[in-house]
Amino acid sequence: MIAIIPVAGAGTKLRPHTYTQPKSLIPVAGKPILGFIIDQLLESGIQEFVFIIGYLGEKIKEYVDESYPSIKKKFVVQETREGLGHAIWLTKDVIPKKSNVIIVLGDTIIDVNLKKFIELKTSALAIKKVNDPRKFGVAEFDDNNNIIKVVEKPSIPKSNLALVGLYKINEFDVLIKSLDHNIKNNIRSKNEFYLTDGLQEMIQRGVKFQGFKVENWYDCGQKEILLKTNALLLSKKKKSVANKKNLHNCIVIEPIFIGKNTVLKNCIIGPNVTIGDDASICDSIIRDSIIGNYTKLNDVVLFNSLIGSDSEIWGSSQSLNIGDNTELDLR
Ligand code: G1P
Repeated sequence: MIAIIPVAGAGTKLRPHTYTQPKSLIPVAGKPILGFIIDQLLESGIQEFVFIIGYLGEKIKEYVDESYPSIKKKFVVQETREGLGHAIWLTKDVIPKKSNVIIVLGDTIIDVNLKKFIELKTSALAIKKVNDPRKFGVAEFDDNNNIIKVVEKPSIPKSNLALVGLYKINEFDVLIKSLDHNIKNNIRSKNEFYLTDGLQEMIQRGVKFQGFKVENWYDCGQKEILLKTNALLLSKKKKSVANKKNLHNCIVIEPIFIGKNTVLKNCIIGPNVTIGDDASICDSIIRDSIIGNYTKLNDVVLFNSLIGSDSEIWGSSQSLNIGDNTELDLR
């Protein structure tokens, strides 16, 4: 089984962070999103990886080469942004036709028993019930849990089961033929070649897909969900501070994660805070936030914040001389 991880997207919803780093390298709970995906795949026994890179692709290659030097991996470059279907189609040159593949979208962390998913007999699509299916690929079922149709972002959805970005394909050759068919005939939706349209073509060609319900799914493409994911993953993590000696006169409210060489003085940190490596934080209160590497914070009170690497923030602290019976609102 070969894992395909598309990470070519520009991550527009996470700007300004994605101006300088690809979405999949944004850290949550002390590790980039992509690190969680690769670790989960390795744990389930996957040994071969194909990454589809594009926007800031060199950074992804650098991260994977440095952090996972010994895994078997290939990189495919998507030069033009023509959709997920097009990205997957490009892997035809490096993946043998007879392979079984698992596709995991590079900005999605999924709480799932991957081993069980991989062991399913037929091809399968991971799904979850959502409130607004119009934002996703949607699967329609018959009475025997077979998927009879998939539609990308339908304006009038016939089901509320969304595709979460995890796909198991036993018939890689049919997938490529189907995408090939769509590309040759210019079958686009909203000007893109969607993977979902390729899957629909596979269904029409007789391939059987079953649905596989997942517990939790975090589409990390938005700040709020990223911070929620950070909180959840921190609560599952064992080691929270790289070096306790670097915390001077601080109060820690778990769960938190603090990277190596990061120094904190006179701070209240947590809950749900991730701080990267080599940061320096003084006289500050921080909760529910992610702070990047080499960032310096002084006198700040932060909540629900996403602060990139190499940033510096100084807060406003006042020196007051106020008499009795005073009410002062400094908001
Ligand atoms: C992509 C897929 C869609 C899927 C979604 C999951 O959409 O095209 O079918 O439901 O990921 O996150 P995108 O997020 O790129 O709009």
